[in-house]
Amino acid sequence: PLSRSLSMTSLSGVLPAWEEDELPVEDLLLFEVAWEVTNKVGGIYTVIQTKAKITVDEWGENYYMMGPYFEQNFKTQVEGCEPPNPAIRKAMDALIHNGCQVHFGRWLIEGSPYVILFDIGSAAWNLDRWKGDLWQTCSIGLPYHDREANDSLILGSLIAWFFKEVSWYKPNVIGHFHEWQAGAGLILSRSRKIPMATVFTTHATLLGRYLCAGNADFYNNLDKFNIDKEAGERQIYHRYCLERAAVHCAHVFTTVSQITAVEANHMLHRKPDVVTPNGLNVKKFSAMHEFQNLHSTSKIRIQEFVRGHFYGHLDFNLEKTLFFFIAGRYEFSNKGADIFLESLSRLNYLLRVRNDVTVVVFFIMPAKTNNFNVESLKGQAVRKQLWDTAHTVKEKFGKKLYDALLTGTIPDMNSILDRDDFTIMKRAIYATQRHSLPPVTTHNMLDDSTDPILSNVRRIGLFNSRNDRVKIIFHPEFLSSTSPLLPMDYEDFVRGCNLGVFPSYYEPWGYTPGECTVMGIPSVTTNLSGFGCFMEEHVSDPAAYGIYIVDRRFRSPEESCNQLTQFMFSFCQQSRRQRIIQRNRTERLSDLLDWRYLGRFYIHARHLALSRAFPEKFKMDPMAPLKVSNTVQTRD
Ligand code: UDP
Ligand code: G6P
Ligand code: GLC
Repeated sequence: PLSRSLSMTSLSGVLPAWEEDELPVEDLLLFEVAWEVTNKVGGIYTVIQTKAKITVDEWGENYYMMGPYFEQNFKTQVEGCEPPNPAIRKAMDALIHNGCQVHFGRWLIEGSPYVILFDIGSAAWNLDRWKGDLWQTCSIGLPYHDREANDSLILGSLIAWFFKEVSWYKPNVIGHFHEWQAGAGLILSRSRKIPMATVFTTHATLLGRYLCAGNADFYNNLDKFNIDKEAGERQIYHRYCLERAAVHCAHVFTTVSQITAVEANHMLHRKPDVVTPNGLNVKKFSAMHEFQNLHSTSKIRIQEFVRGHFYGHLDFNLEKTLFFFIAGRYEFSNKGADIFLESLSRLNYLLRVRNDVTVVVFFIMPAKTNNFNVESLKGQAVRKQLWDTAHTVKEKFGKKLYDALLTGTIPDMNSILDRDDFTIMKRAIYATQRHSLPPVTTHNMLDDSTDPILSNVRRIGLFNSRNDRVKIIFHPEFLSSTSPLLPMDYEDFVRGCNLGVFPSYYEPWGYTPGECTVMGIPSVTTNLSGFGCFMEEHVSDPAAYGIYIVDRRFRSPEESCNQLTQFMFSFCQQSRRQRIIQRNRTERLSDLLDWRYLGRFYIHARHLALSRAFPEKFKMDPMAPLKVSNTVQTRD
């Protein structure tokens, strides 16, 4: 079928040829540093976590991830153990003997990589000294009130110290640092001339993110911004300096997409050496229909939740209800939640006049809350009670029917249930009466009146009233299978939905649509997201494969809204059969996003870094720029 061959042919020409003569990694140690190691914030966690398997396959015991230690994360995700390498044990001990806590273990994810986690709090007493060091080294001063920047300096100082200790044992080291929060470690290691090859990967630029969130016409003015001034005005000058210094200190600079490479060139003044697109750990099912079954079972669970949430107002047919969602860190306009809401209000109108489909839309974006709200919890309790009542009456009915059949009679259906049974059922139904509309949000929001999603919902008036065909549920917290409200993890939730909608304006990569793709769920993305551009480049007709790309680059916001509305409205007009076929097609694009292919860009970046850091030992073949012909020697 078209499927596999499509992805393979589209890959050729884009990806470097397999590097046959890979470096013998036994002589090298690879350390990958990120704030999100064992610590979920957003997509960087997904990069680190999904890439672990292929990296461990390549590097085995020589691969270590490093990040901040948080007790709760360690307890729930890491199995503590002894470092296998004496140099690492000794380096850790040097820090520990000086009062800084360092933890070691295996991260319990696929590949079980080793992690070295540094306790920021235990080392915080050094902050002033380390700030002084940073100032001496590169004249970057961190203000006391920026906790995140201060924490990143503590982490960076610990990591540079650790590398210094490791270097006494003279191993060949590659340090791969992600995002500005890991930048200080790179800057300090380089300024202290620790012999190591370094790679720095940005997953965004600070300025890009801020300027876009501030509604700048970003992409048309990339070359016109006075970047120092812009950073100063946004009070992120020191962070921007850390980011820019890390970029320029690294032997190799990479970013996650072509669009961010162009941005980085303008915002950070260095052209990335390599683009390292984000992959996923693609699960292959032996039977094609298996992921369709998973869609079905997850969808049933979402339907159950919806039954509870809309109790008393369930006058729409769940068989004709589609589930859409948007998810990710809560950056209202960067993630395109603004044009999504506007388009939903238009879709609501179109469905009211022309269709019998209902769309329930979930917004999964973490905001500040004070736990679940009573109304949402009550909805699930009411549903549970109705279920229990139905179950009790069914049992009683069944037993009487059975007894009657045993005596050879068919019971009188009118009297098989007595008055008490009817009373129980009536009381259960009375409990479903409600005087308010089903809530838009599942939690008590701390900033209810100023929250951008809620403010826009108020403006467009989508309050889950009976005649709305588009219903909104804002779940301001990442999903979890232990939630008392919607007990599903994110993956199961995505599987159960019909369409992911991610109309981002600022999105260096954007994992969410890619995750939909590998689960066979169609999604909307944009030509301003790294993922959307990647798909546009490698798939000739993405829409035919359930990847709808909204044009946010060459069209006005109004036109983009119309296009998004049209995509969603046409999606609503599909039959179930068409949706099933489309899911099969979507899933066929999975290979394109597999780390098994995309991981080679990381390999290339590491080789390049080695050849630049240690040119006498590691040579790049100039005729094959993506290959390293190496003559590895161990240090004496
Ligand atoms: N995500 C999650 N739980 C949720 C919702 C989202 O773990 O309930 C994850 C999702 O799997 C994705 C990440 O959050 O990997 C968001 O990454 P993306 O690159 O799309 O955007 P970012 O938030 O990093 O800008
Ligand atoms: C899967 C299942 C079908 C089910 C369908 C629902 O394909 O195998 O049994 O009918 O999902 O699809 P829908 O697009 O309506 O959610
Ligand atoms: C950042 C970007 C996101 C990207 C992720 C992983 O958080 O905002 O677009 O997918 O990093 O690279």
